[in-house]
Amino acid sequence: MTTVSTSTPGTSADTRTTSTAAPAVHRVLTGDRPTGPLHLGHYFGTLQNRVRLQRQGVEMFVVVADYQVITDRDLADRLAEHSENLVLDYLAAGLDPDRATIFAHSAVPALNQLLLPFLSLVSVAELSRNPTVKDEIAHSDQAAVNGLMFTYPVHQAADILFCKADLVPVGQDQLPHLEVARTIARRFHERYPHADGTAVFPKPQALLSDAPLLLGTDGRKMSKSRGNAVPLGATEDETARLIRGARTDHDRRIGYDPVNRPEVSSLVLLAALCQDRTPEAVADELGDGGAAALKRTVIESVNEFLRPLRTRRAELAADRAHLRQVLRDGAERANVVADATLAEVRAVMGSV
Ligand code: TRP
Repeated sequence: MTTVSTSTPGTSADTRTTSTAAPAVHRVLTGDRPTGPLHLGHYFGTLQNRVRLQRQGVEMFVVVADYQVITDRDLADRLAEHSENLVLDYLAAGLDPDRATIFAHSAVPALNQLLLPFLSLVSVAELSRNPTVKDEIAHSDQAAVNGLMFTYPVHQAADILFCKADLVPVGQDQLPHLEVARTIARRFHERYPHADGTAVFPKPQALLSDAPLLLGTDGRKMSKSRGNAVPLGATEDETARLIRGARTDHDRRIGYDPVNRPEVSSLVLLAALCQDRTPEAVADELGDGGAAALKRTVIESVNEFLRPLRTRRAELAADRAHLRQVLRDGAERANVVADATLAEVRAVMGSV
């Protein structure tokens, strides 16, 4: 799997630009499930990267993956509200709807139609081997696994390929899905090349942020569904309460040692990311201060870092109609692109 790496402040002293040579020639697609508020893990894992790419002039599509919500739950609960709130978090984090196309995939029929030919290009055995899907099934509390769960990586390939994205900023857990999209692009080309031999779809690459995984307050992966995350839109008091409740250990010496002291190290890392310093520098400064001092530092750093974002978020939250309009405009632009791609697919397949 080819990956392109970006560096993140606080994790290394070197440059912060992506290693992609000519950003303007790239088309990026990424997205999230509208299941709840975005949190610090999303911010440092991917949102920050997206804003950086946008600033570099990269053409960006951001999908509100509403059909993906019903992979591991029976009902897409409060879907419209969650979708609008996702847009709210995006805009507060700095995505600009004039430059990025933000849309819900259920509003783009031609995107969804790509699922049918794509499904014919993967085997059932391949679908059931997907490690991320297996992990999600293990964590789901549904009585039975539904068919969309097994096939959603193929649907996600449609998200990526409908706009011929060549770069996909994602976290580590999404790499198996990227591999599915690359396989589909390759097999589609083998089966249905253009008459001149060119491919309909590019092979998308993952753009991995090198921000190490932030742990949640319980020491497990920070996740919307586990209730262990600090939401971007939380108040300063809620933030303080959440961080005060985080797991640590009994060693008063604060250090950065993710392997042996994951909980303490994750808090140190969080402070470092917010302060744009290295985790080692943050740990050294805290010295023998113990967990209480560490948490005070983290609370202050997070609240200070998020203050401008939260101010913007509060302003934007007052205008729900604007959030809906962003999704409508995005869907309009995405539909033009998806219709053109589907027409091309139908042509090479001989459907017209
Ligand atoms: N599966 C992703 C997640 O759970 C969300 C997503 C949907 C996505 N479609 C995508 C990510 C396309 C990258 C590209 O976070």
